[in-house]
Amino acid sequence: MKKICVVGTGYVGLVTGTCFADLGNRVVCVDISDEKIAMLQAGEMPIYEPGLEEMVERNVKAGRLSFTTSYDEGLTGAEFVFIAVGTPSGVDGEADLRYVRMAAETIAATMSAPLIIINKSTVPVGTGDWVADIVSRTQPQPIEFAVVSNPEFLREGSAISDFLNPDRVVLGSLDKDAAEKVAQLHLALRAPIVVTDLRTAEMIKYASNAFLATRISFINEIAAICEKLGADVKEVAAGMGYDKRIGRYFLDAGLGYGGSCFPKDVLALEHMALIHGTHPALLRAVMDINRDQRRRVIHQLRQELGRLQDRHIGLLGLAFKANTDDMREAPAVEIAHLLRNEGVRVKGYDPVAMRAAAREMPDMQLAEDAYDLAEGCDAIVVCTEWNEFRHLDMGRVRRAMRTPVIFDGRNLYDPEIMRDHGFIYHGVGRGIWLNSDSDDAVNITPAIPYSV
Ligand code: UDX
Repeated sequence: MKKICVVGTGYVGLVTGTCFADLGNRVVCVDISDEKIAMLQAGEMPIYEPGLEEMVERNVKAGRLSFTTSYDEGLTGAEFVFIAVGTPSGVDGEADLRYVRMAAETIAATMSAPLIIINKSTVPVGTGDWVADIVSRTQPQPIEFAVVSNPEFLREGSAISDFLNPDRVVLGSLDKDAAEKVAQLHLALRAPIVVTDLRTAEMIKYASNAFLATRISFINEIAAICEKLGADVKEVAAGMGYDKRIGRYFLDAGLGYGGSCFPKDVLALEHMALIHGTHPALLRAVMDINRDQRRRVIHQLRQELGRLQDRHIGLLGLAFKANTDDMREAPAVEIAHLLRNEGVRVKGYDPVAMRAAAREMPDMQLAEDAYDLAEGCDAIVVCTEWNEFRHLDMGRVRRAMRTPVIFDGRNLYDPEIMRDHGFIYHGVGRGIWLNSDSDDAVNITPAIPYSV
């Protein structure tokens, strides 16, 4: 059993600390937010993550997990300290490292014994060296330490499972002994452990996220072409996925990627590329395509409904994806903003993210459930792929609406079944718009020029 300190109690820090406690270590999670620490000490979760509350409660009861605002309490007796603080997008997309700096400085000023400092946060290539420099300069007296990069690959909504069942553990350090000790912490996970240098480990994280984002923009571009040519992108993706070199994951066309990682990480990688004199044309295209997925919805609504002023439009699902309450870079937020600019009355419903939505979009009318959302709407836009939306009573939804127009931004539904229910159904890349009044397939919108 090892004593581990984790700085930062966001979804990465809290999940990392709780899972390490669950593996039998003694973990102290530190945060500068009194409010967050008070919530955690009271057994309340500051984030929605399936399974987390139960795992926290169990490990707190077992005396393996505790929460504090005191770095001294966190670091006393600790052999490892994970920096798991936020690295939001700053100016020009550059990662804002103020919280990493604060953590490194406080660790340096507080530590009283040799320590392995582990960057868990997603940080630009070269940050490990920078952290080492900060610690050396800040320590009141020299105390041995090493810096290791250990990027996380956790998905919101499945973060615990992703931590306990990683495809790989990535460790980067100039100090092979330190890397070996951190590898020991992860042995129980029985996953491949990649040990490399600091910069390569940091780049593995960015390159992985940027590649996943590229897959999403790729399939969304294919979806736009499918709409023009009458193919169904869901079946195209299925046919592609049998190729082992392609695989079937991350080929769901929709409203594009959101969340706290992909948008920020692709932007940060573009920024790194630019300031070092390369030309990230592909990364730019990935971001352009992603941005236009939201705008296409407005264009198609205008095509279908004509003038949007004073229309009532419902957003079904508000979180950036299912199984989370996170609204960061959620398509629903941008679509609501674009619709309000058109004078549309926007209503929203989400099974979990209602509190977050009320904070993020205080002037949005919030519905009780999907049927209340449908009441009086001229159109519904499906923004989040919650399972509870997959089996709605579509006859009841249809009867509640003023006009039966559905934009299925996550391709949850079968176009034929929706037509049978009397809807004018628009998916993403589903080949043709099925018009409920006739069997004629109405070919789709002119593509929007991406470069605006
Ligand atoms: C992502 C990475 O997957 C994870 O490894 C990293 O550590 C953090 O960022 P997360 O953002 O939580 O995780 O969610 P993820 O499930 O990866 O989805 C990211 C976005 O892509 C979501 O907006 C999702 O709706 C979208 N997406 C995902 C698609 O549009 N199509 C897909 O096929 C998959």
